Amino acid sequence: MRNLAVAGTGYVGLSTGTCFADMGNNVTCIDISEEKIAMLQRGEAPIYEPGLNEMIVRNMKAGRLHFTTNYDEALQDAEFVFICVGTPSGVDGEADLQYVRMAAESVAHAMTHSVIVINKSTVPVGTGDWVADIVRRSQPEPIDFAVVSCPEFTREGSALHDFMNPDRVVIGSRSAEAAEKVAQLHLPLRTRIIMTDLRTAEMIKYASNAFLATKISFINEIAVICEKLGADVEEVAEGMGFDRRIGAHFLSAGLGYGGSCFPKDVKALEHMALVHGSHPALLRAVIDINRDMRRWAVYNLREMVGGKLDGKKIGLMGLAFKPNTDDIREAPALEIAHMLRNEGALVSGYDPVAMRNVSRSDPYLRLAEDAYDLADGADALLVCTEWNEFKQLDLPRLHSIMRQPIVVDGRNIYELERMRALGFAYRAVGRSHSDSEGNGV
Ligand code: UDX
Repeated sequence: MRNLAVAGTGYVGLSTGTCFADMGNNVTCIDISEEKIAMLQRGEAPIYEPGLNEMIVRNMKAGRLHFTTNYDEALQDAEFVFICVGTPSGVDGEADLQYVRMAAESVAHAMTHSVIVINKSTVPVGTGDWVADIVRRSQPEPIDFAVVSCPEFTREGSALHDFMNPDRVVIGSRSAEAAEKVAQLHLPLRTRIIMTDLRTAEMIKYASNAFLATKISFINEIAVICEKLGADVEEVAEGMGFDRRIGAHFLSAGLGYGGSCFPKDVKALEHMALVHGSHPALLRAVIDINRDMRRWAVYNLREMVGGKLDGKKIGLMGLAFKPNTDDIREAPALEIAHMLRNEGALVSGYDPVAMRNVSRSDPYLRLAEDAYDLADGADALLVCTEWNEFKQLDLPRLHSIMRQPIVVDGRNIYELERMRALGFAYRAVGRSHSDSEGNGV
């Protein structure tokens, strides 16, 4: 059993802290938000992540998981301190490091003995050295410490499974001894551990996310070409995916990537490249194509309702950036809602879990009670998130209550033939439109 402190109780911090507690360690999670910590102390997770709440309660009961706003308390016996705070996009797409700085300063002030500071937040290459500088400068008296980069690769919605079953753990540090200790901490995960230097570890995280985003934009570009040429992108992706050099994952065409990682990490990598004088043409294209997919949805809706969206009732099915999460950061649905309203459409939305977050961030979006309420009297529906419950809807009922039976499927969840047989005017991403030649992108 080791003593760990985890700064930041967002998706990364909470899943990291809770999983390490579940592995038998004694973990104290810290957050500056009193409200979040009060919730967690009551055993309530402030975010929706399948299985997380149960795991928090189980480990709190076992006395291995604690929550506080006080760094002194958290660091009292800690051997390791994880920094898992947010790094949102700044004005030019650069990562905003103010929370990392605050966490590093707080760690420095609270340190009473030697600790290993582990960066899990996605930070620009070079931040590990910067954090070391901040800690050194902020310490009231010099105490030995080491900085290690150990980037997070878990996905929201399956964070606990991903944490416990990683494809690899990446550890970067200037101190071989500290790196070795962090590697020991991860041994129960029985996975490949890659030991490297600080900057390389930081770059592995960006390169991994940028590559996955590239796969998504690549298949979306192919999808748009498929529509023009009468091919089916779903089958194209399947046919490509059997080639082991390509792989079947991350080839689902749709409205593009969103969430807290891909959009900001691709922009941050582009920004790093630019400020160092290189020309990140591929990253730019990835970002542009992703934006175009939002336009694809608006174009198709406009065309299918007869050329003008003004006064048309449009229902957005799914508001979270992907299924199994309540996270709406950079969710295509919210951006599309804005674009549709700009053209005078009357936009409603429904999501199984994200509506509480949406009501706070977009008060103009009318929220429906369920998918049928959303469809009632609608001129068109747009599938924005591939929630399972949408796959099992009573489609004839949906058809009967819509004003016009138009469905634009931004996540390819329905079968083309079936939708058409049911009498829907139906379009999906990258699957040929028998009713139209163009797609607008
Ligand atoms: C991602 C990375 O997968 C993870 O390793 C990293 O630590 C954080 O960022 P996450 O943002 O939770 O995780 O979601 P993920 O499941 O990877 O999906 C990202 C986005 O890509 C979603 O908006 C999803 O809808 C989209 N996507 C994914 C596609 O459009 N097509 C695909 O084939 C796969």
